[in-house]
Amino acid sequence: MMLDVQNLVHRFPGGVNAVNDVSFSIAAGETLGLVGESGSGKSTIGLLVTRLLAPTGGTILFEGEDITRLPPAALRKLRARLQIVFQDPWGSLNPRMTIGRLLEEPLALHTTLDSAARIAEARRLADRVRLPAASLSRYPHELSGGQLQRVSIARAIANRPKLVVLDEPTSSLDLSVRAGILQLLDELQRETGIAMLFISHDLETVRLVSHRVIVLYLGRIVEQAPAATLFDNPAHPYTQVLLSAHLPPDPAMRLRRHEVTGEIPSPINLPPGCFFAGRCPVALPACTAAPPPAIALEAGHSAACLRIADGTNIIDPVEERA
Ligand SMILES: Nc1ncnc2c1ncn2[C@@H]1O[C@H](COP(=O)(O)OP(=O)(O)OP(=O)(O)O)[C@@H](O)[C@H]1O
Ligand code: SF4
Ligand SMILES: [Mg+2]
Repeated sequence: MMLDVQNLVHRFPGGVNAVNDVSFSIAAGETLGLVGESGSGKSTIGLLVTRLLAPTGGTILFEGEDITRLPPAALRKLRARLQIVFQDPWGSLNPRMTIGRLLEEPLALHTTLDSAARIAEARRLADRVRLPAASLSRYPHELSGGQLQRVSIARAIANRPKLVVLDEPTSSLDLSVRAGILQLLDELQRETGIAMLFISHDLETVRLVSHRVIVLYLGRIVEQAPAATLFDNPAHPYTQVLLSAHLPPDPAMRLRRHEVTGEIPSPINLPPGCFFAGRCPVALPACTAAPPPAIALEAGHSAACLRIADGTNIIDPVEERA
């Protein structure tokens, strides 16, 4: 496994339990999608995995090496192989550096290439992400959002990393440029076998790019499955609710959304049982007693719900013919 995360926990100062006992792995060449509503802990997991944040508990193995606690020098070296791309390219690129310098920077940090070789490599990188050569002498404010995200991706792949975390990489971009960025990521993965953790609240995008998908609710994994299985056969009641809220309009169907009421628990004071129990339409008394264990449904598909044991986990038909 490229990445193996076991029992990851993160509690922010102030008592926010952002990540609660999360375990997953990513293979080389694989894209794992991470979905969940705002505040479910997606970005925190991205920061922990890239060790921009130190976890409160659990272990992170990267290429078999325990990177859970590393001294700063070892962390800096790790960054060549383990990269992150953020949502906002405007905020993550130094506005006073030319695109050429921005592309040379990771090479200066992690290689022994001399200046001429770095310039040549920066050109190659720009070409690889389909940035016009003329953009190398430009500044970030002179580029479009889509072009800037290409710069961020080029910087992330400059040192041929094994894993890239993409935290909402297309969410700040116009719909018309998103497809081009997703296409580029797909090409890069096919060429280099890079593993990707793709974070997004946009379910359609996640379905498109991911091999497997994890659904988070309040920092806990409620379900994980191959992408097609998750979207066609969601097992956890929360996943069913989440997907039904994003049903595409279809005039031939009388779509039924699962409406849920009830309070979302505070991450500072989480309940002892299933975090979804207060809103779940099919909750049982036992659901509030202890965290439900993950139940395997089929190969690679599991969900943490007490209703799965006897097959009563499906809320009700999502759609009906009109
Ligand atoms: N630096 C911080 N200090 C304290 N709490 C934080 C900090 N960063 C995030 N949190 C809290 O941790 C929880 C998880 O936040 P996180 O940003 O990981 O969620 P997310 O799933 O990425 O949300 P979004 O979809 O809005 O990006 C939230 O309750 C958030 O308020
Ligand atoms: S464990 Fe209980 S409360 Fe949680 S999703 Fe399943 S049925 Fe609903
Ligand atoms: Mg986030």
